[in-house]
Amino acid sequence: MISFSVAFDPNKGIGIRGALPWHLKDELKIFKRNTLYKNILMGQTTYDGLPRKLADRYITVASIDPSYHPEDVEVTNDLKGFLEEHKDDATEYIICGGASIFNQAYPYAKKAYVSFVKEAYEVDTWFNVFEMEDWEVVTEEDHPDFIYRELIRKEK
Ligand SMILES: NC(=O)c1ccc[n+]([C@@H]2O[C@H](COP(=O)([O-])OP(=O)(O)OC[C@H]3O[C@@H](n4cnc5c(N)ncnc54)[C@H](OP(=O)(O)O)[C@@H]3O)[C@@H](O)[C@H]2O)c1
Repeated sequence: MISFSVAFDPNKGIGIRGALPWHLKDELKIFKRNTLYKNILMGQTTYDGLPRKLADRYITVASIDPSYHPEDVEVTNDLKGFLEEHKDDATEYIICGGASIFNQAYPYAKKAYVSFVKEAYEVDTWFNVFEMEDWEVVTEEDHPDFIYRELIRKEK
């Protein structure tokens, strides 16, 4: 099963200059809670921009560059192939960004962990294809700077 974990602002903004536009401690705690000991996938830009290593997660990094081989992670040169291979698995694969990966993986995701950041930030990357009408809210937590919701895709 494919899911994704994202935080975006009211304009679906997710990043600026290769980093997060905000520093929201509670949001990072939720990300850790949801991804610990899970299979996660992220794009090369997001992986290389991480301020520190993400411990205790099984990480796959998407890169088109066949010579890209960072230590201790799997690399896929074929995101679509990865998504097709794992979409019907019982095991969950959590897509963790960034924008290009979210936008390509969106049609495959059946579940989502989304922090709706309350304030609009200066951003240069967006999760454009996300539409709330595709999703049903399963749980909701109100935090001072964001609302965290777990979503499942509506049946069509
Ligand atoms: N708010 C959030 O929840 C959140 C979460 C994650 C990231 N972000 C932010 O998002 C921004 C980065 O997003 P981004 O779109 O610039 O970069 P990205 O999605 O992290 O990575 C882009 C890279 O992924 C690889 N890639 C893309 N499509 C691929 C495919 N079909 N197959 C294989 N590899 C593929 C390419 O790597 P190569 O160039 O190596 O070929 C591409 O350059 C940052 O600002 C980051 O902080 C925000």
